[in-house]
Amino acid sequence: MTLGKTVKKAVIPAAGLGTRFLPATKAMPKEMLPVVDQPAIQYVVEEAVKAGLDDLLMITGRSKRALEDHFDRAPALERTLELKGDLERLEAVQHASSLAPLHYLRQGDPKGLGHAVLCARQHVGDEPFAVLLGDDLIDAQEDLLSIMIDVQAKTGGSVIALIEVDPSQISAYGCADITAVDGEDYFQVNRLVEKPSVDEAPSNLAVIGRYVLHPAVFDVLENTEPGRGGEIQLTDALQTLATTEGEGGGVYGVVFRGRRYDTGDKLSYIKAVISIASERVDFGEELKTWMKEFVNE
Ligand code: UTP
Repeated sequence: MTLGKTVKKAVIPAAGLGTRFLPATKAMPKEMLPVVDQPAIQYVVEEAVKAGLDDLLMITGRSKRALEDHFDRAPALERTLELKGDLERLEAVQHASSLAPLHYLRQGDPKGLGHAVLCARQHVGDEPFAVLLGDDLIDAQEDLLSIMIDVQAKTGGSVIALIEVDPSQISAYGCADITAVDGEDYFQVNRLVEKPSVDEAPSNLAVIGRYVLHPAVFDVLENTEPGRGGEIQLTDALQTLATTEGEGGGVYGVVFRGRRYDTGDKLSYIKAVISIASERVDFGEELKTWMKEFVNE
């Protein structure tokens, strides 16, 4: 059992093609879309660092070079800002490159989220690890990942995050059938289905882009055939682990009730921008006043 082992590594899959956001994402990674003045991916990296993860592996691919450049030093730009005396922007630019040691691995052929996670096998080794999807934003005030890491340590299995969605929306997500665990605020996951139709869905609990996984998932992924959409689905591998007993078996769910946005989806992305912008001290109040006027017009 891996009980009590601290999770230190995070895998951040960001190799998807971002087709829902075309043509904006034809030449630019969707993870680089700005949410106010930071690319979406920076919020994800900051969340991982806040949860104590200090070894981050980003899974990238073709047309994703901007991701590496964003977290790298930019000496010419930094010198220019320094000469201008623009220390605030200099600090912002340097902050992105000093967050954590970041490693990069190309997926080659984006064969699905499960395949992206499997690419991380050698880097992760034989220890539990976190997975944060590069286009999923969780409110920075929430401690979801830390809670999930605790549940993993307690159970020794794998942990997923769930949100309640309107039943009509469930076919856009992986869906979980769960039962309560006595005296605990996490749940046992009995069954997972990737993007079920409304009639097939066992619940209205949708899987979102945060996972803390036991390394047993790698062996399962090696043997997972392409599923829905011809992609190797992480959900299918987790379904196998949910029904596996012994070392590395068992999947547990944490229900998240805070704010979360899928920045790969146009409407959700716009909501993320408005929500985060309206909390900014520099122009949040002004924006809210304008929004009220705009809605009333
Ligand atoms: P999505 O399904 O949201 O990504 O995958 P996508 O394929 O880029 O999106 P659309 O549907 O075409 O708009 C969820 C996460 O998994 C990553 C994505 O980058 C995203 O963070 N992913 C997906 C990979 O890293 N590799 C893949 O082969 C597929």
